[in-house]
Amino acid sequence: MKLNQNYSNLKDSYLFSTIAKKVNAYAAEHPDKKIIRLGIGDVTKPLCPAVIQAMHDAVNDLSTEAGFHGYGPEQGYDFLRESVKGYYEKRGVALQLDEIFISDGAKSDVGNILDLFDRDNTVLIPDPVYPVYVDTNIMDGRRILYMDANAQNAFLPLPDPSVDADIIYLCSPNNPTGAVYNKEQLAAWVNYAIQKDAVILFDAAYEAFIQDETLPKSIYEIENAKRCAIEFCSLSKTAGFTGTRCGYTIVPLELQRNGVSLNKLWLRRQTTKFNGTSYAVQKGAQAVFTPEGQKQTRETIQYYLENAKIISDAMDELGIWYTGGKNSPYIWLKCPNDMQSWDFFDYLLENANVVGTPGAGFGKNGEHFFRLTAFGNRENTKEAVERIKQLLK
Ligand code: MLT
Repeated sequence: MKLNQNYSNLKDSYLFSTIAKKVNAYAAEHPDKKIIRLGIGDVTKPLCPAVIQAMHDAVNDLSTEAGFHGYGPEQGYDFLRESVKGYYEKRGVALQLDEIFISDGAKSDVGNILDLFDRDNTVLIPDPVYPVYVDTNIMDGRRILYMDANAQNAFLPLPDPSVDADIIYLCSPNNPTGAVYNKEQLAAWVNYAIQKDAVILFDAAYEAFIQDETLPKSIYEIENAKRCAIEFCSLSKTAGFTGTRCGYTIVPLELQRNGVSLNKLWLRRQTTKFNGTSYAVQKGAQAVFTPEGQKQTRETIQYYLENAKIISDAMDELGIWYTGGKNSPYIWLKCPNDMQSWDFFDYLLENANVVGTPGAGFGKNGEHFFRLTAFGNRENTKEAVERIKQLLK
């Protein structure tokens, strides 16, 4: 037998597993220290009351023969897909129900979508970026081209017509930099993809953090995007579903390559390999889109954005260059004294007992940068900021 040799080309462990291991080892050696985790983008606020009520009701449904639900539709229940459709409609994006696929989160879909594409495709990925895009393509053995995101282009690389690519990853608001493409910039990507016959995989997981109304929350706000883009979104950061797990992926019916509908392929893939997200979770997800759920989740997002402001104000005070934190829960900062990002990680962990994410973990252009998340609770965020100020002033 032969194993997938491509796995030998991966780093030993996934970025956030490596960090967790390091932090756990430090905690075991220093049980007296209070470590504050602003590393992985995991939320701390509980699910909002509207979601909790809907999930309780769903569990009650499951306790009766009349309300019981076994296997659900692989593509998701219509009640949730209708809610997602309505959410897009508010932004002027008209979707058909068949274009919406409910899943257990964006991470799985972003990885699984590659089932649709031949290994002999060239992939274009911004650097730095969410490591899942790179790792899943390495697993398949695809050729990867990187585009530089840096301070010069405000971490928003634009298409280079001399580069040929088949699959393009865009994440906006960006993880890790917090940078957000405007409509003109996204339109440049849509035009490029159509010219190259490429498909854009657009990760909108952080769309709910966009405060500036002029910025696009969905790639389908751009003309012709349905001809070239698949969009992934998730309730993890929008509504605290990191542990509850629910996301949705839009594969437009118009999206065809070589006369084949990608929507049809994804449906075939999902019906074969996925048995749907659980009924109770989908009921909870539906509640996110009700007026009450929207109000409650927006309040939580404002809370995290206030944390982001506390962190960025501290960076201003310290004279540290940073970006993000305004339309995004991430603050992307330059390591002081040009430190290497893993060295700064150790320095901060050991001297302030604060955990962040080293920029180098997101790609070579992340070297000398560092990511802090605003998803902590207020008290810990304030304490972490005080410790950082003490250490770096
Ligand atoms: C992150 O910290 O980058 C994210 O939480 C990881 C994820 O969403 O999978």
